[in-house]
Amino acid sequence: MSETRKKPLLFEEFSNLEGSIPWIKLVPSATPVKELRNIEEKLKINSLWMKCDDISSPLYGGNKSRKMEFIYAEALEQDKKRVLTAGAIGSNQCVANAIFCKKFRLTPMAVMIDQPVTKFVRHNLLIDLYYNTEFYYLKEAIPKSDDIYIMAPGCSTPFGNLGYIDAALELKNQVENGEIPEPDYIFVPTASSGTAAGLTIGVQLAGLKTHIHAIQTSFSSLSNLKAIQRLSKKTKKFMESYDISLPKLSFDHLKYTEEHYGGEYGLPTPECVAAINLLREQEKIILEPTYSGKTLAALLSFIRNNRSKVKDKTIVFWNTFNSHDFSDVIESVNYRDLPQELHWVFEKPIPDYGL
Ligand SMILES: Cc1ncc(COP(=O)(O)O)c(C=O)c1O
Repeated sequence: MSETRKKPLLFEEFSNLEGSIPWIKLVPSATPVKELRNIEEKLKINSLWMKCDDISSPLYGGNKSRKMEFIYAEALEQDKKRVLTAGAIGSNQCVANAIFCKKFRLTPMAVMIDQPVTKFVRHNLLIDLYYNTEFYYLKEAIPKSDDIYIMAPGCSTPFGNLGYIDAALELKNQVENGEIPEPDYIFVPTASSGTAAGLTIGVQLAGLKTHIHAIQTSFSSLSNLKAIQRLSKKTKKFMESYDISLPKLSFDHLKYTEEHYGGEYGLPTPECVAAINLLREQEKIILEPTYSGKTLAALLSFIRNNRSKVKDKTIVFWNTFNSHDFSDVIESVNYRDLPQELHWVFEKPIPDYGL
C-alpha cells in the first residue's frame, strides 16, 4: 500500500482539532473498497462491498489501528513507558497493543479474562507472547505506576472514536471519487461500541445517506444500542469542546441487532461459521468467529430476509479483522513460554466448530 495519508481528514474538515489533539500515523493510506462479486452472484444481488480495514496498517490490520493513532500519540506525549489494556484471552486489542508497542518502544501489558477457545484465541496468545507482552490473566490486582498508560478496552473513548469518524470521511471521499456507490447500509461489529459510534457520527458529518447496522458481538451490558448512543453523544461533545459546531446528532440511521450474538461472547454460532466459510471459499478472505463472522452472518441474513428490497442497494461489510499472515510468528514461539496458568488453552482440545 503506498503511503498517501498525510493526516486525518478530520483535521482537514475541523482545523481546530489539528495541533490540539495528539495523533501519530499507523494507517498509511485509505483502506480499499472491494466489490464482493462472487457473493453478489451467489446471493443474486448487485452491490455488495467490503471496506478493507483488515489491511488498515501494514503492521497489523483491523479496527484498532485507526483508534490507536490517537491513543499512542497521547501515551507518547505523556512520556509513558508501558501500555496496559484489557480483553479476553483471544483479544485482538491486546495483539494490536503488543505489535504497536514494539513500534513505539513501549512495553505491552494485557489484563485478560476467559473466553471459549478457538484456534484464533491460541494464535493471538502466541502473537502476544512473541511481542513480549506482560500477562495479567485473571488477576485482581493490576500494577499501578505513573509510567503506565491505561488504554481503555477497545480504545472506545471519545478520543479513540475519532478514528472511525475519520474513517467515514474517508469512505465519503471514495464515494466522491467513484470507487464505490454511496452505501445504503454498513454492517459493523459492536463490542465496546467505539467503531459503531464513530461511524454513526461520521456518516452524518460526511452527509452520507448510509444506515449503520451495528451487530452485537459482546456481553449485552457492554454492547447495546444505548451504549452506542451514549458514546456517540460523548464523542460529539468532546469535538465540540474544541469550539467546533456540529449538527444535531440523529440516531434514525442506526440499527442495533442482537440476534446473531448467540448468547456467549466468542462462541462461534453455526450461522457465523457458515458465513466465515462462505467468505473464505468465495472471496479467499479470512474472518474470525467473535466479531467479523457474526457480523457477516447478520448481513447475509438481512439480505436473505429482504432480497427484493435490497437487491440493488449498496451494502458494505466493514471488515474489522486483521488479515495479515502471522504464521511465521506463531510457529516461532512455544506456548510453554506463556505463564503456566495459560497453558490449558493449548492443552484442552478445541471443540469442532467447523471452522
Ligand atoms: C476484529 C474486531 N472487530 C470488531 C471489534 C469491536 O469493535 P468495538 O469494540 O469498537 O465495538 C473488535 C473489538 O475488539 C474486534 O477485535
